[in-house]
Amino acid sequence: MSYRYATERTDHSALASGQVLRSAPGYPGFPVRLASELLQRAMVHVEGDRVRLWDPCCGSGYLVAVLGLLHRDRLTHVRATDVDGDAVAIAARNLELLTAEGLAERERELRRSARDFGRVAFVERAESARDLAAGLAAMGGDLPHESGVVDVFTATDPVDADLVITDVPYGEMTHWEGNVPDDPIRALLASMGRTLPRSAVVVVTARTRRVPLPEGVRALERVKVGNRSAVLVRARDLAAL
Ligand SMILES: C[S@@+](CC[C@H](N)C(=O)[O-])C[C@H]1O[C@@H](n2cnc3c(N)ncnc32)[C@H](O)[C@@H]1O
Repeated sequence: MSYRYATERTDHSALASGQVLRSAPGYPGFPVRLASELLQRAMVHVEGDRVRLWDPCCGSGYLVAVLGLLHRDRLTHVRATDVDGDAVAIAARNLELLTAEGLAERERELRRSARDFGRVAFVERAESARDLAAGLAAMGGDLPHESGVVDVFTATDPVDADLVITDVPYGEMTHWEGNVPDDPIRALLASMGRTLPRSAVVVVTARTRRVPLPEGVRALERVKVGNRSAVLVRARDLAAL
């Protein structure tokens, strides 16, 4: 079955940032259809038909949480890390929504808000949480996950992930932090090359016309949608950076 066409037809309003998934000022979301498209393109290049997904610049965790809820049946584990501890705290709460209990608790919270504030919008959001829980259950149930504070530039520990999808800082709402080198994209790719299995696929996306690749690194694919672009590369090709 083509997930691409299935998701293009689907109404994604339940996944809108701040609807059920948590948002916070300064933590941008990510276009749901583009997230889904990037995952599906990357799946063509990975080994097997289910992957362990990692976002090393996860912000609020919105991107990986959306992918977990949309593509539960393609994922076995989700990992979200960021250098910003406040971001990771929000991401951890969003990753809890990849479980039946997390979504049930979110539904209860939204129903309490509906009663306390007398606003129908909270009832609709509670119903979205219930719908997401039904979708998750139909696609395999709770999705194992973890989150943590990691500076991607200094990371050295091996990471068991088959696919990285990450939306990197583009200077409007978010910035590179931590041990920032002269060429952050190159350093991010080098980090992926030393921490991931060689067969892993890395998708880097940013609000730019073209994500630059270091000389000698081959793109598996490039994607351009509106003011965003993405590049897919193989971890093996990053090992020498
Ligand atoms: C564009 S935002 C990511 C938004 C995210 N995709 C989402 O859906 O919420 C970029 C993130 O990169 C993080 N970042 C900046 N420098 C970093 C570093 N050295 N290591 C890890 N993450 C970093 C920022 O804290 C920010 O959360």
